[in-house]
Amino acid sequence: MSARRLAIRQPETFALSAKAKKEIGAWVKKYPSDRQRSALIPALWIAQKDAGGWLPELALRALGDMLDMAYIRVYEVATFYTMFNLEPVGMHYVQMCGTTPCWLRGSDKLKEMLTRKIGPQRSISEDGKLSWLEVECLGSCSNAPMVQISNADGDHYYEDLTAESLEKVLDDMVAGKKPPQGPKNGRFSSEPIGGALALNSKELYNKSKTPTKLPNAVKAAKIIRHADGAKVTASSKPKVTKAISKKPTSKTSASKPKVIYTDGPTDGAPDDLKLIKGIGPKFEGDLNSKGIYYFRQIGAWKAADVKMVEGIIDSFPGRIERDEWVKQGKSLAKGGAPKKMKPVRAKKAKA
Ligand code: FES
Repeated sequence: MSARRLAIRQPETFALSAKAKKEIGAWVKKYPSDRQRSALIPALWIAQKDAGGWLPELALRALGDMLDMAYIRVYEVATFYTMFNLEPVGMHYVQMCGTTPCWLRGSDKLKEMLTRKIGPQRSISEDGKLSWLEVECLGSCSNAPMVQISNADGDHYYEDLTAESLEKVLDDMVAGKKPPQGPKNGRFSSEPIGGALALNSKELYNKSKTPTKLPNAVKAAKIIRHADGAKVTASSKPKVTKAISKKPTSKTSASKPKVIYTDGPTDGAPDDLKLIKGIGPKFEGDLNSKGIYYFRQIGAWKAADVKMVEGIIDSFPGRIERDEWVKQGKSLAKGGAPKKMKPVRAKKAKA
């Protein structure tokens, strides 16, 4: 495995789009509050798409802040997987599989053509439209040799390639066309060249010959039984009742934000906001910089305050509510104990 490093030339500024933040937020919600870093890989993928196909260092840092992770942890993951580009790529980015099945089927020829047409791996063509990289198996070995081409339209597989057919695909893309993805040797998927040799009787696909009544043997197989062996009859099936959704009667979102700011820690030493589960050094700093120093301030937030604070600290929508900052703030302000993180238990070794 080769060492992968961040690009030497980096942009001076970077900000994730609102759309990317929303998408990342949806992934974060899939994990428990103390396991948000589990969303890192999809978050990196979304950030890469958002940044034009590669990950500037500022994007990695932005994710570290959002997931409350040390930057080095983000760098470790981003530099490990070749799916994450650490330097700019062309408008159409070609990943060419060079693993054994593709190599046996002629990937070296593709490599020669790509080098001639674009230049060495990781370089970008003069017009900025093409770049390429040799990667390991992309899971389409039955259609070797193959490439994946990523661009603004998504990620597409081009399979059963020759140097000529791949060059034609690239020329079409550079010319603004959208060449159809899939095999380039006449196959539909991975059937033998010339057509399928099995399951090709037309009778199999003739709907009029499909029996409308199931044979008894099939019916018997479809009888559902409870775990205790009792047959499920129509009368014993549990009735499904529709859930009644009640409209909220109070308009909480309409309540105005409370005054939550102070000019500084004017009422004694500031509280250690990091005792609130979900607040790390980064969020504490953000909150302090906006005049929020005490548990009681957080404990007094209403829905509108929470929304406003989420905007201030660049957090995901819903994070404060999910982590129960307000409840924790109230409890800590009254002298309650901090919420404990769940310990990770090691699995017992089998005897
Ligand atoms: S070896 Fe090339 S796709 Fe699997």
